[in-house]
Amino acid sequence: MRTLFLLFVAGIVAGMPSLLFAGSGAGQALPTMKINAKKAALGKRLFFDERLSGDGALSCASCHIPEKGFADGKSLSDAYPGTKGFRNTPTLINTVHKQSLGIPWFHDGRIGTNLNDVTRDQITETIWMNMDMRIMQERLKQDPVYRKMFKEVGMGEPSNGKVRKLIPEYLKTLTSRNVPYDLGKMSAAAEKGEAVFMGKGGCVQCHEGPLFADGQAYNLGVPENKDIFREPLRHITFVAFNMFMGNENFMNLRRDPGAHVINHYSDGRDMGKFFTPTLRELKQTAPYMHNGMLATLKDVVAFYNNGGGKDPNKDTRLKPLGLSALEQANLVAFLESLSGDPLTGPEHVYGESISQKYYPIPNWLTVKN
Ligand code: HEC
Ligand code: HEC
Repeated sequence: MRTLFLLFVAGIVAGMPSLLFAGSGAGQALPTMKINAKKAALGKRLFFDERLSGDGALSCASCHIPEKGFADGKSLSDAYPGTKGFRNTPTLINTVHKQSLGIPWFHDGRIGTNLNDVTRDQITETIWMNMDMRIMQERLKQDPVYRKMFKEVGMGEPSNGKVRKLIPEYLKTLTSRNVPYDLGKMSAAAEKGEAVFMGKGGCVQCHEGPLFADGQAYNLGVPENKDIFREPLRHITFVAFNMFMGNENFMNLRRDPGAHVINHYSDGRDMGKFFTPTLRELKQTAPYMHNGMLATLKDVVAFYNNGGGKDPNKDTRLKPLGLSALEQANLVAFLESLSGDPLTGPEHVYGESISQKYYPIPNWLTVKN
C-alpha cells in the first residue's frame, strides 16, 4: 500500500495524467491545478478587503481566517452586523477541488455548479456580506491599486463579474501541503487507525476519494445546536434563510432541514441530511459538524462509536462500532495525519492593511463606466 502510494507521488512529480490516480476508496492524491499567479494575487487582495461588504466591515477573511484553517474556530459563524450565523464555517482549504470531483458546496449542497456562484452568494446575500455588486464595482474602480492590478493581469476595468473569477483563482492556492498521509509519513498509530477507518469503523463508506468526501448527504442525527433557538440574532438568520429558500413551515422548524433545501421532497426524505465534509485539515478546523456541536476529534470518534445521534431519519449505516479505547485513539491519529502545514504565510495572506481611506484615482469624476 505504501509503495503504491509512493508511485502516486512519483506520478505527480512527473506530471503524469491524473487519470492514473483514478480509483475508488481513500488514498488518492489531490488533483494538481494550473494557477495564474498574478490573478491569484489580485484575488487574494479582494479576499482580504473589507470594502467587499455592504458596510465595509467584513471581508471573506473575517470568517475564513487563515490561522484557523480558513474556518473561524467557532461553533456557529458570525454574520452581517445585526444577524448571526446558524452554521459552522467550513474550511476553504481544498474547497476548489470540489469542482472537479463533482461535490457541491455548503453543508446542504445548495450550490453545485461553480465557485463563481458561491462567491456571488457570499458577497451579496444579506446574511453574509450584504453587498450590492454594483456598488462594489464602483468602489473598486476608484481605488488606484485595483485599477493598476486589473490592468496588469489584462482584465481592464474592475467589474463584479471579474471579481467572481478572481477570488476563485486565489482559492486555487489554498490546497493542502506536507500532509503526513500524502507523504507516506504516518505514525504507527495512524497506520493502525487507517485500518479501522477502512474496516471496522466503516468510515470509508462515506469518506472516500481525494477529499475523503463522497459528494452525498446523510442524516447522522447530530444534536441540534440550541443557540439557534436561544439567541434572537441567530434565529433571525435561521428563519430568514429558510423563508428565502422556500422551506415549508419555516416558523416552526426546530431542526436545521439541511439538504431538504435542494429538492423539497414532500415526504421529507432529505430532512436533516448534510453533505459529507472533507476530512483534510481537521487539526486546524475544530469544532466539527455543520453546527459545531462536537468539540474535538475524540468526541467525533466517540459519537460514531455510539452509532451516531438520535433522529427518526438517521442513516442505517450508523451502528454502534464497539471500538476499544486504543482503536479510537488510533483513528484520531489517522484523522490527524490528514492535516498539513497552516497556510498563514505571505503567499496566502495579504500582508498590508487595506485602508478604507484610499486616495481615489485623480480623474475619478470623468472616468467612464
Ligand atoms: C459572515 C461570515 C462569512 C463571510 C464574510 C464569508 N463566509 Fe464563506 N461561508 C461562511 C459559512 C458559515 C459557510 C457555510 C454556509 C452553509 O453551509 O450554509 C460558508 C461557506 C463558504 C464556501 C463553501 C465551502 C464548502 O466547501 O462548501 C465557500 C467557497 C466560501 N464560503 C467562500 C467565501 C468567500 C469567497 C467569501 C468572501 C467573498 C466568504 N466566503 C465570506 C461564512 C462566511
Ligand atoms: C453514513 C456516512 C458516514 C459515515 C459511515 C461516516 N461519516 Fe463522518 N461524516 C458524514 C457526514 C454526512 C458528516 C457531516 C455531518 C454534519 O455536518 O452534520 C460527517 C462528519 C465527519 C467529521 C467532521 C468533519 C468536520 O469538518 O466537521 C469527521 C471528523 C468524521 N465525519 C469522521 C468520520 C469517521 C472517523 C468515521 C468512521 C468511524 C465516519 N466519519 C463515518 C458521513 C459519514
